[in-house]
Amino acid sequence: MSDLIAPASAMTPTEVEALMAEAKAAIAEGQFDRVLELLDQVGDRLDAWRRVYWGQQLIDARAVEVATTLLRKITKQSPQAPESWAALGNCLSRQGDRAEAQNCFRQAHLLRGWLESRDHGYEFSQDWFSNQLPNWNRHIAPLKDQQDQHKGQPLQGLEIGSFEGMSACWLLDRVLTHPGSQLTCIDPSPQAAFRPNLAKTGRADSVQVLEALSWEALESLRSYTYDLAYIDGCHAPWVAFRDAVQTWPIVRTGGIVVIDDYRYQGHPDECPKPGVDLFMALFAGCFELLNNDYQLFLRKIRDWDGATAPLDRVLLLTDDPMLLDGLGWFLGTVGQLDLAQRVCERAIALYPTTAYAYMTLAQIWAQRGPLPETLPRRYSPLTCRLVRYFACVQPSEVAFTDQLDLEIIVAYLQAIDRQVYWHSPVKNLLGLLDYQIQRQELSGAITAWQNWADWAARGQWGQSLNLPTNARPYRRMAELAIARNYSSVVPLVEVIAAIAHGHPPND
Ligand SMILES: C[S@@+](CC[C@H](N)C(=O)[O-])C[C@H]1O[C@@H](n2cnc3c(N)ncnc32)[C@H](O)[C@@H]1O
Repeated sequence: MSDLIAPASAMTPTEVEALMAEAKAAIAEGQFDRVLELLDQVGDRLDAWRRVYWGQQLIDARAVEVATTLLRKITKQSPQAPESWAALGNCLSRQGDRAEAQNCFRQAHLLRGWLESRDHGYEFSQDWFSNQLPNWNRHIAPLKDQQDQHKGQPLQGLEIGSFEGMSACWLLDRVLTHPGSQLTCIDPSPQAAFRPNLAKTGRADSVQVLEALSWEALESLRSYTYDLAYIDGCHAPWVAFRDAVQTWPIVRTGGIVVIDDYRYQGHPDECPKPGVDLFMALFAGCFELLNNDYQLFLRKIRDWDGATAPLDRVLLLTDDPMLLDGLGWFLGTVGQLDLAQRVCERAIALYPTTAYAYMTLAQIWAQRGPLPETLPRRYSPLTCRLVRYFACVQPSEVAFTDQLDLEIIVAYLQAIDRQVYWHSPVKNLLGLLDYQIQRQELSGAITAWQNWADWAARGQWGQSLNLPTNARPYRRMAELAIARNYSSVVPLVEVIAAIAHGHPPND
């Protein structure tokens, strides 16, 4: 221990915080053993939960062995702290020690009062759930008591994102215990342990498993009514938004929706918060917020009501193209077509090379009936063409992968519309696109296109920026589309080729 630092028992909270700031700096500098020293100095001035936090920081910094040493120490110092067992289990599992990890998870679950986890012999490789059990016991377990009071009516549960089934098993053991209760699990790729774990509950017959993406599966559940729903699937903000919006109508009034990882901090694609915040703003007044923590617990008060929704405010809440597109989609589904169009138009104005908003805008126009001869004058030629194209394509005909590839087409059309098309780089760019498409780095291909277009626009090569009259690039795009079996793209490329050769778009 450094003699410059007072012993833990004599430390003030400010001194403890100073040491923790030092630990943060040590992690940033890769001095992981120093973190162990610092935590030794702080000792029991930090509760087990906060010491486990440092184990997590070490795991995130890929110092898994040091994290294991720290977490082992914490489980010895505080054997009654379930969070340290769960974190140690996660760490050991990463290092391939499945058997010891299993024991740690069971220990964590026993301390949380979930005895069935050991008695049924479930097998898990990760525990992202049991630390939240105090809130589940407080808000979800009482649903079972209500069920008992209501003459034993069975409960219906919904789970988006099942992985190995930890949350599903707990629900079946602790809440959905009535023989008539049922659980619907949605997961496009549940882990191998999922079905064996369900079987060990003895209740597998009460579980409906939908191996599909949430937004597709939820569409098929529109006639169902659930008492509780757990949203823990894909954490991208736009998916979290759609999951919450699509779940709401199938939860009964008084039912509870739990949303995981609300406060997770990491890569933006894995942080649901912006999507959940948009959902909560749009559905203000429809729920009571029971718990606003790492997970959100919302009790449904009413269905969405367009008359009371704060729409003007919500429209300005996000600049994220995927969230704007999701908002446009939602407004389209509830018949707010003018607003829906405004939102999509904003997404297009902000992000003209992202395909989704053009597709949603076209679907909204298609909802209004046959497309008018002339679209609004505020629409660019690019927007007009894409709306005409997508309005004729059924959404089901455009596969998910096609949508990604269409972003290249949009970027390509954009380059044409801006007249930033030039001759010699086209050859190189198409080579680059081909290479990147083969490697499936589609977003990289788009970025490359835009960079090249910007260079040319700044006159870096002194090239002419006229539209090429040579049909080759267009043919090449069509070939790429055919080679990759993106059949819905081919007619679009043909339309572009026709436009480039002076034929009117509707020819
Ligand atoms: C964090 S895990 C779920 C953990 C589980 N609820 C538990 O507590 O044990 C997330 C799961 O969501 C699934 N997932 C990812 N995208 C999804 C989507 N669009 N729809 C439904 N599930 C999805 C993944 O396959 C993964 O198994």
